[in-house]
Amino acid sequence: MLNIALGKGRLADITLKKLEEIKIHFPEYTSKSRKLIFTDAMNSIKLVFVKASDVGIYVERGACDIGVAGKDTIMESMPDVYEMMDLKIGRCKFAVAAPVGFKKESHKKIRVATKYPNVAKNYFERNGKPIEIIKINGSVELAPLMGLADVIVDIVETGTTLKENGLVVIEEISDVSARLIVNKVSLKTKRTEILGIIKALSTSSEGDQL
Ligand code: PRP
Repeated sequence: MLNIALGKGRLADITLKKLEEIKIHFPEYTSKSRKLIFTDAMNSIKLVFVKASDVGIYVERGACDIGVAGKDTIMESMPDVYEMMDLKIGRCKFAVAAPVGFKKESHKKIRVATKYPNVAKNYFERNGKPIEIIKINGSVELAPLMGLADVIVDIVETGTTLKENGLVVIEEISDVSARLIVNKVSLKTKRTEILGIIKALSTSSEGDQL
C-alpha cells in the first residue's frame, strides 16, 4: 500500500481531481465527509487527511510515503523529505502586509504577527531588519487592526481578506504553490509506484518535476 498525506482544506479537492485524472479514484470520498482515511478503488493507495501544516511530518517520519503540501508549510517546517514536483496548483504569495498608510518608526522594532514564524524571521533577517515575532494561529489580519502587531507575514491568494480588512501588501516575499513531497526511504523501497504516479501527474497536467 502507498500512503498519501493530503492537507484538509483548500488544496484537497483540486488534488483529488488531479488524482482522478490519472485514474486514481477514492469512491467513498466526499468533501463533506469527516472520515480521515480513504482507500482507492484498486485497494493499493490510502489517502490520509491531515492538517495542512502536518503533511511534512507525516512524510518525513514515513507514516506516509507521499504528501501534497503548500510550499508555505514546507518553508515553515522544512521537513527532511524529497520535494519532487511543483504541482502548480494552490498558487499564492508570501507577503508582508500592513494597514493602509502604515509608516515604520525607524527607532522601533517592527512587531510581526504570523502563522509562519520561521519564514518571517528568515525574511527579515536576510534584510537586516530587527523584528519581534508574534505567533498566532489564524485570522492574522486582525492583529494589526487590534494593535497586537504592526504588520503581518501571511499568504495572499486573491487579496480579498487583506482588502476587506483595510490592509495592503507592502513587500512580496516569494511565490507559493503545492509541492509533491516524498519520504526518502519510500523512494527507494516503493520507487516504481511513486515514480509511476509522478510521471502520470506530469503527463496529465502542467506540473513540473523538480
Ligand atoms: C489564508 C491566509 C489569509 C487568506 C488569504 O487563511 O492566512 O487569511 O487565506 O486568502 P485571500 O487572499 O484569497 O483572501 P485561511 O483561509 O487558510 O484561514 P486562517 O486565517 O484561519 O488560517
